[in-house]
Parts: sequence; C-alpha cells; structure tokens
Amino acid sequence: MNTQILTTPQGESYPIATGSGFLPEIGKMAAEQIKPCRVMIVTDSNVAPLYLDTVRKSFADAGFSVFTHPVPAGEESKSVAVLGELLEAFAEAKMTRTDFAAALGGGVIGDLTGFAAGCYLRGIRFAQIPTTLLAAVDASVGGKTAVNLAHGKNLAGLFHQPIGVYCDTDTLKTLHPHELEDGYAEAIKHGILDDPALFEIFEHGDPAGNIEEIIVRSVIYKSRIVMEDPNEKGVRKMLNLGHTPAHAIERLSDFEISHGHAVSMGIAMMTRAAARRNMLKIDEASRIINTLKRNNLPTECPYPAKEMAEIAAVDKKAAASDITVILPEKIGKCVMQKMPVAALESLFADGLEALS
Ligand code: NAD
Ligand code: GLY
Repeated sequence: MNTQILTTPQGESYPIATGSGFLPEIGKMAAEQIKPCRVMIVTDSNVAPLYLDTVRKSFADAGFSVFTHPVPAGEESKSVAVLGELLEAFAEAKMTRTDFAAALGGGVIGDLTGFAAGCYLRGIRFAQIPTTLLAAVDASVGGKTAVNLAHGKNLAGLFHQPIGVYCDTDTLKTLHPHELEDGYAEAIKHGILDDPALFEIFEHGDPAGNIEEIIVRSVIYKSRIVMEDPNEKGVRKMLNLGHTPAHAIERLSDFEISHGHAVSMGIAMMTRAAARRNMLKIDEASRIINTLKRNNLPTECPYPAKEMAEIAAVDKKAAASDITVILPEKIGKCVMQKMPVAALESLFADGLEALS
C-alpha cells in the first residue's frame, strides 16, 4: 500500500492510502484517525450493491455505529435537493459534531458528502473512499466539495478537507470502460501540467496495467499543489486545465457528457488554442491530442464557441470581468492566463479550429 500525507498550511493533515484489497480494513484504518462514533456512509445506487456491505461491516467491526444513505447514481445527485435530504438524514441519525460521514463512491458522492459534512452543525469530519479512477486521481484529494445549481456546475460548495482518503484499487475493476476513461482524462491533465512520465504511460504505455502508479503519481502532484494553496488563491488554479470549457460542455449536454470526457474536450481545446497562439509547438500539441484519442477520449467539442463562452461567463472561476484560464506550453508545463471574460469566445473559437 502507498500512503501519502497531505498537510495544509492550516495544519490539517491526512493520509491518502492507495492499494489493493484493503476495503474490509477501512473501518480500522479510519479508527486510527478518529475515535469510533456514529458514521453515515453515503453512497450511490450503483456502488451500494457492490461494496456497501463490506464497508458497513468494516466500520461496525471497528466499533462505529453505522448508518447508510444511498442516493441515485449520477450527476443529478449533486443537487441542492439531494444535499437537503442528506442533511436531514444526518439529523435523523442524531449525528453530533463528534460524528462523521464516509463518502463511498465516485466524485459525485465525494463532492456531495464533503459539502454536507462541511455545513452540517457548521462542520463535521468525513472520509473519502473513492471507487472511481477519477475520484482516486483527483476528486477525493484536496477538500473541494460542491453541488450544482441551475445556473451552473459546482456553484455552491466549500473547502473541507477529509480525515483520510482510502482507495482500494480492487473496486476500480468493476468500472465501465467509459468511467475508467473519465479518470484517464484527469490523470493525463496531471501529466500535461507537471509529470511527463505520467503522460507517457498514456502516450505509449499500458494505463490499465498501471492503475496504481497512475493514482500515486497523480496524488503526489495534486497533494503538493493543495499543500501550497488549499483554497485556490493561486497555483491550485492550474488544476483547472480544460475545466472552463468542460463545465460549459457538461451543462450544454444536460450532463449527458460526463465530467472526464468533457475535460478531455476542454484540454484538447486549450491545446489547440495555445498552439494557434504560438505558445505551444505543433508537435507537442499533436502529442496531446493523439494521446487523448489513444485512450478513447473525445477531442472534438460539439458546441459553438459563443454558447460555451456565455456559460463560462458565470463559471465560478470568473472574477468580476476577468477569468483565469490555463494553457499548455509543453508537456509538463502550463501557464495561467488572466483574460477579460469577453475574450473567451475567441479563445474557444481558436480551440475549435483544427491544428495547422
Ligand atoms: P460518478 O461519481 O458519477 O461515478 C461515475 C459512475 O460510476 C456512476 O454511475 C457511479 O455509480 C459508478 N461507479 C462508481 N464507482 C463504481 C465502481 N467501483 N464500479 C462500478 N461503478 C461505479 O462520477 P466521477 O467521474 O467519479 O466524478 C465526477 C464528479 O466529480 C463530477 O461531478 C465532478 O465535478 C467532480 N469532480 C470533483 C473534483 C474535486 O476536486 N472535488 C475533481 C474532479 C471532479
Ligand atoms: N479538481 C481541481 C481541484 O481540486 O482543484
């Protein structure tokens, strides 16, 4: 098992454990961080039949009083309505400030549970038990929590760090290939931002045969960024590579296009835009696009630049009339560029043009 420790400047510190076969031990591992108490395990309707019994038993065996709250699978559960039901479930279970929640599932469950834990009684503790690759490489680490509003993705949320992240890679074996690819998109993002060797696993190697290395390399990079800037005042913005168009794409598709696939389209757009603006060499841009394609990820976006730019204008990354976007300079290095929101349409238009 690989364990990384993430410590924020505020002194919050937690283990991120990645390895095979420890799901039945998760209660015991959590008990090293938190005295046995009430735990509400939040999960979704796909994950519950696969892993809830094992996790419930593991917490019970470690001395916790276990409650469970399954929600429907899918992005629709990242809503104010489902959040409200979860908060009521905490109250119904008479959870107090010394109790805690466990998010068993993908990024949807992690974001929802973390947000509920962050605001119930002004904050109770929670753990992440990621069961998708996307959650393992990205969403479970760093304490970003949110639900969506009708006006946009992740518009209500807070920073709330977990007490631990426990990823049993055996759970990833039941993922549909589409969901594995979602995780590939975020890991390729980490490769483009900082880690050429990680990128090369996707460019020439065998990602499915190197899942643990992909998670660990991603966690090491993301933890380093979160430790420096937990509340996204500066360098953490880099992790949003491709996300400004991606959030607009998700919304325009009514969430039919999954987050990871939208991120892939967004990365491809920012890559082509950077090449067109002479910030990135054409051959590096081609490597990025071809690597996304090699991993079955989409690189063409079905929406016009204007529609995407209108939605991105209310994206939470927009500050007043400016927005920060991330553009690749080479594989392993990207730059932040602050630009007027009004300039987004032309950036997106460049991102939709073929490489030439
Ligand atoms: P998800 O949670 O919807 O999971 C994808 C699908 O896989 C669901 O149908 C789920 O039921 C199913 N599933 C989960 N684990 C499974 C398993 N082991 N076997 C079989 N099926 C399984 O989606 P996701 O891709 O994990 O996460 C996407 C969400 O994460 C988006 O809402 C995105 O905004 C958010 N996100 C958050 C952060 C962050 O830093 N907080 C980072 C990236 C993405
Ligand atoms: N997924 C981007 C972040 O955690 O900052």
